[in-house]
Amino acid sequence: MKQRTHWESRVGFVLAASGSAVGLGNIWKFPYVTGENGGGFFVLVYLICVALVGLPVMIAEILIGRSTQNSPVGAFKSLSGTKSPWLSIGYLGLFSSFIILSFYSVVAGWSMHYTWLSVSGQLADLKPAEAEPIFDQLFQSTRMNLFWHMIFIGLTVGVVFKGISKGVERWSRILMPALFIMMLILLGKAIFMDGFSQAFQFVFGFNALKFSSTGALKALGQAFFSLSLGMGAMLTYGSYLRNQDGIVEASVTISILDTAIALISSLILFPIIFSYGMEPAAGPGLVFISIPIALSQMGSTTIFGTLFFALLVFAALTSAISMLEVSASYLIDEKKWTRVRATVVAGLAAGLFGIPSALSGGNWIFGSGLISLIGKNWFDSLDYLASNWMLPLGGLGIAIFTAWRMNEALRSKGFLSGSNLRIFYKIWLLLLKFLVPIAIVLIFLHAINLI
Ligand code: PFF
Repeated sequence: MKQRTHWESRVGFVLAASGSAVGLGNIWKFPYVTGENGGGFFVLVYLICVALVGLPVMIAEILIGRSTQNSPVGAFKSLSGTKSPWLSIGYLGLFSSFIILSFYSVVAGWSMHYTWLSVSGQLADLKPAEAEPIFDQLFQSTRMNLFWHMIFIGLTVGVVFKGISKGVERWSRILMPALFIMMLILLGKAIFMDGFSQAFQFVFGFNALKFSSTGALKALGQAFFSLSLGMGAMLTYGSYLRNQDGIVEASVTISILDTAIALISSLILFPIIFSYGMEPAAGPGLVFISIPIALSQMGSTTIFGTLFFALLVFAALTSAISMLEVSASYLIDEKKWTRVRATVVAGLAAGLFGIPSALSGGNWIFGSGLISLIGKNWFDSLDYLASNWMLPLGGLGIAIFTAWRMNEALRSKGFLSGSNLRIFYKIWLLLLKFLVPIAIVLIFLHAINLI
């Protein structure tokens, strides 16, 4: 059998996995979902979900990947047999990653469009009132959405078919820190804006009033989405990890980094929103409307706008790569396809499946909500179903499997090798056995108003 390729170092793995975790989910989605759900209390529930549910599931996912050195479906096959019902966790992950990639690339496409608007100077001298119409125009344009969506999918395919270790690892090393520094610069500006204290209160204050019955579901879904869990992405990345690299330390680092970037994004965006009297629940356009306003006030939209949106595209790319890698590695490992064929076919399929999402903003049938069963447009329906239901369901399966089904020797070896955090093994196992499944089931029941 061919030797599986590996990350060159633990740092390389942590950067690539953080690249998967940190993306549009942190900078685009977290602030707007926080805004729609009333702020503070939502953030608190989110943080609890990350620490007590997300982190244990992340360790389990990476551990299954590394122990089996296989992609999701193959991993469950090798652990529980070719006909086992546990394989459905692998297939669910495959399905979720495919769906998420199909609409994720539409938003990544918006980021590319804004990079272009910034480079070409079209955002220079922007008046605050002009920012929203610019976004609306893009949101409703069939042509622009399709164009950028396809370009972004093409870019993702281009990176994945080169193989994951060198390209992703090397670029992540430079661009992830660059993104972080850029965020800190913007945070430095935001702190001095009039709306900062109101924004701080909004993000960290305990405002439980606007928290609806699906608030906890959305916080849980957001935690899974942001940490790239429940769909086999971390499992697949874990399968390229060497045995001497500790999983627990890596998972803690990834979770902290991911959460920090989400919080920093909110502390950048909401001061702008409040300073200019905008609506915190503005929805998916939040970052695309508020950042250009802030930058134009600083008089630096062309340079900083280009830098910010280009880094956002990069953050989206390192996440999209991990989604496509799930489908590609399935076709390579299970169907014995070549990497090039697997990547191109999976990418093309996600591109085509993403067309209705790209058209969801326009006056098109996919945008009307008519064809959707749950009263949302196609894009929002997919996001809602995949992020809030399918990912936590995948996480539930992974937690139950790891805690109740997996061989103890294999599990403890996976947890302990390369790690100095042995004392947490028992706690981790208890969380996976009881707290994680119970919390996910309770949140599901609560969301459908059964409790
Ligand atoms: N975690 C990514 C983000 O926050 O943008 C999105 C994502 C990547 C979700 C990979 C799921 C996944 F498997």
